This record gives sequence, C-alpha cells and structure tokens, in this order.
Amino acid sequence: MKLEAQLASPADLEKAKTIYGADKGDLCAPLLRAAWPETEANAQARAEWSCQQQKEYLENDPTCRFIKVVDRDADDEMIAFGRWHRYPDGPGMTHLNLEYAGLKDRDDPAAFPPEFGKALYCDFLDKVLADRPDWMDRGLCWVLTTIQTRAPFRGNGAAGLILQWGLEQAAKDGVPAFLEAGEKAVGLYKKHGFKVVKVEEFDWSSYGQPG
Ligand SMILES: CC(C)(COP(=O)(O)OP(=O)(O)OC[C@H]1O[C@@H](n2cnc3c(N)ncnc32)[C@H](O)[C@@H]1OP(=O)(O)O)[C@@H](O)C(=O)NCCC(=O)NCCS
Repeated sequence: MKLEAQLASPADLEKAKTIYGADKGDLCAPLLRAAWPETEANAQARAEWSCQQQKEYLENDPTCRFIKVVDRDADDEMIAFGRWHRYPDGPGMTHLNLEYAGLKDRDDPAAFPPEFGKALYCDFLDKVLADRPDWMDRGLCWVLTTIQTRAPFRGNGAAGLILQWGLEQAAKDGVPAFLEAGEKAVGLYKKHGFKVVKVEEFDWSSYGQPG
C-alpha cells in the first residue's frame, strides 16, 4: 500500500455513497455512530445520509477541508476520510447547523431517516458543541471534527496521515489543533501529540440505542 492524504471534493463524497457495508467497510459515518442501528440492512441508507450531510458541509462551510486517504498502489482507492476546520475564533464557529442534518433543519421531518436515533444524536451534539468554550482556546485554530478509516484497511496509518495533515496546517499558522475523541481512539491521538485537556461523560443508556 502506498497511502497519500489529499484534499477531497464533493465528487469524492458522492462516490463515497457507494462505499459501505461489511465487505468494503463504511467510508463515511454519522458523527455519532451509535445513533444508527448497526445493521447491514441499514448500511446503504447510513452511507447515503452521511455522505450527503458531509457533502453539504463541504459545499457550504468555507472553514471546512475534507481530507481523503488514497492508496496510490490501488488506483487511488479511497480508504479514509477526515474533516478539518480552520476556525477563525476557536469554538465561536459558523455553520454549526450543518453538523446536525446538513442543509435541512433538524426539525424538518425529512432531516433524519426513520431508523435514526435523532434524540440521542441531537442531544449529544448539543452538549459537545455547547461545552467547547470550556476547553477550547479562542483565536485561530484547526479542529478535527470527523475521522474514519474503512474497517478492512485499519491499522495501516491512514488516520495518522489525516491527523498529520491538519497538524501541519496548524504548525504553518502557528496555532493549536483540537479534537474531541471517543475513548477508544484516545491512544491514537496521543501518539500524534494531542493531550487530554478535559474528560466529559454522556450517558445514552436511556435513549434505547445500542451505544
Ligand atoms: C480510529 C480510526 C480512525 C483509526 O484509523 P486507522 O487508519 O486504523 O489508524 P492508524 O492506522 O493511523 O492508527 C491505528 C491506531 O488506531 C488505534 N485505534 C483507535 N481506535 C480504533 C478502533 N476503533 N479500531 C481499530 N484501531 C483503533 C489502534 O489502536 C492503532 O494504534 P497502534 O498503531 O498503536 O496499534 C479507525 O479505527 C476508525 O475509523 N474507527 C471508527 C471511527 C472512529 O472511532 N473514529 C474516531 C472517533 S474519535
């Protein structure tokens, strides 16, 4: 494998709608995976919804940079995606509505598919976004908001390339980089120099989702 990080385009996200499921591995996932039942039957709907939301982000938020990792030895097959933002003033971000359901209003009945755990997703996002000013510095910074490697290709350094890409941009600007991490991925981020500044808990046991 010869992996390379490149800027991704809306056309890449359109293509990503076809890359999902147990064999291929999902290339794009909702920010909170637990909000979607983890069934193969839902895999296509999950991929389509996620890629469309991310595409709308890319097309409408000028702070957003999508990074894809491709395998140069396999016809530039896309194996991982990440989304970095160059925020001018830390957590005082623009376009936050896109984080919920892309261009749709979260209260639009068509905003989320019926199987989606809307209450869990929105409550979780509300908390994550509201808490950012407690731990994120003001001023220019880079923020990683989503990262995913297709399951069959994990452990080959793809996520590391996405992290390094953003860290290089932050270093060029002379500013810090931030991210929110799920527990399992903390080791990966520490390996790339991130430090834990705050630990938060969110109990989703009452939402009826698998978690
Ligand atoms: C976390 C994730 C992006 C890592 O991608 P990757 O391309 O395999 O990462 P790299 O090859 O650069 O690094 C692999 C490291 O990630 C760690 N890792 C973190 N979470 C992991 C997970 N859920 N599954 C497998 N490895 C994971 C591994 O322990 C490994 O560390 P090691 O090299 O010390 O053994 C990938 O596992 C993934 O897509 N998970 C599901 C989505 C997710 O959890 N995203 C992060 C939310 S904070």
